[in-house]
Amino acid sequence: MDKNVFKEELNKRVSAAEKAVKSHIPEAGAYNGKVAEAMDYSVMAGGKRLRPLFMMESFRLFCPFDPADAESMPGELSAFMSAMEYIHTYSLVHDDLPAMDNDELRRGRATTWKVYGDGMGVLAGDGLLNYAYELMIRVASSYAASGEQELCRRCIVAAGILADKAGVNGMIGGQCADLEAEGHGGSASEEELMYIHEHKTGCLIEAALMAGGVLAGASEKETEILEKIGSDIGIAFQIKDDILDVIGDSAKLGKKTGSDEANDKVTYVSLNGLENSETEVKRLSREAESLMDSLPGDKEFLKALVDSLISREN
Ligand code: IPE
Ligand code: IPE
Ligand code: MG
Ligand code: MG
Ligand code: MG
Repeated sequence: MDKNVFKEELNKRVSAAEKAVKSHIPEAGAYNGKVAEAMDYSVMAGGKRLRPLFMMESFRLFCPFDPADAESMPGELSAFMSAMEYIHTYSLVHDDLPAMDNDELRRGRATTWKVYGDGMGVLAGDGLLNYAYELMIRVASSYAASGEQELCRRCIVAAGILADKAGVNGMIGGQCADLEAEGHGGSASEEELMYIHEHKTGCLIEAALMAGGVLAGASEKETEILEKIGSDIGIAFQIKDDILDVIGDSAKLGKKTGSDEANDKVTYVSLNGLENSETEVKRLSREAESLMDSLPGDKEFLKALVDSLISREN
């Protein structure tokens, strides 16, 4: 895909994702204002909105609609894209806490705990995670109430995928291993590193692609392929994140570089060096792109998106 066309297509989709994410943010009440404000602060700080984009593109493979026409996005997809981004944002809010990576800059702003305090940082993350489930269950319930059984079933399966992939056998498991490897980064094994990358980062990208497919009616076999694609993209994405932590530009990244070294983390770069890391990002991205050929629909944008991540600067 031509670079300018890709940029245009990307902008359309980011605007659609932005609109969805904004439209579902909870309102502040009389006594919960602070936590609602901290949730809004962390979500609306921006970010690439990559996971909602992956979910939307995966949905469009099986059930195409015009991404530039906000009205044509199905309501359940909009709710699930938002839930996905809230779960991802919660993982970042907690990841930055002093008890975890102790970072003060995220998405170009002071981290949530830095602005609102540790306690509110914990609660804002909890609030985002819980709200994601509130949203997904609300959509499933409304389909159950209106007798649209197939749509209700798809929502329940997709919500189950997000729950599994975010949980103890998914992202939280990866964050656990990441924390445990801290301090002995240099002596961690390749196997431990792969567990960390696949789980802390791969799982949410897998969830995005799988849930998008499931909501649009993908079969079990197709959903398995989406999972493998997500795993490849996710591991490549985390290796690139590790590379950028060493050689990236903090102003472009919107977060401080050198965080991994400061915390003595095990990263792909610390184990294998920069050059091998770049090679592995490319290999995994190409593998993901070729797996896409066994799926239906128009994969051109999805492939271009994966390609763009190889040389991303943020
Ligand atoms: C950051 O994710 C955390 C990792 C898994 C490396 P992103 O790089 O997608 O963060 P945002 O959403 O754009 O801020
Ligand atoms: C974070 O990995 C993964 C999750 C938040 C689940 P990192 O700790 O490397 O992410 P950054 O570099 O802080 O964004
Ligand atoms: Mg971390
Ligand atoms: Mg971190
Ligand atoms: Mg990092």
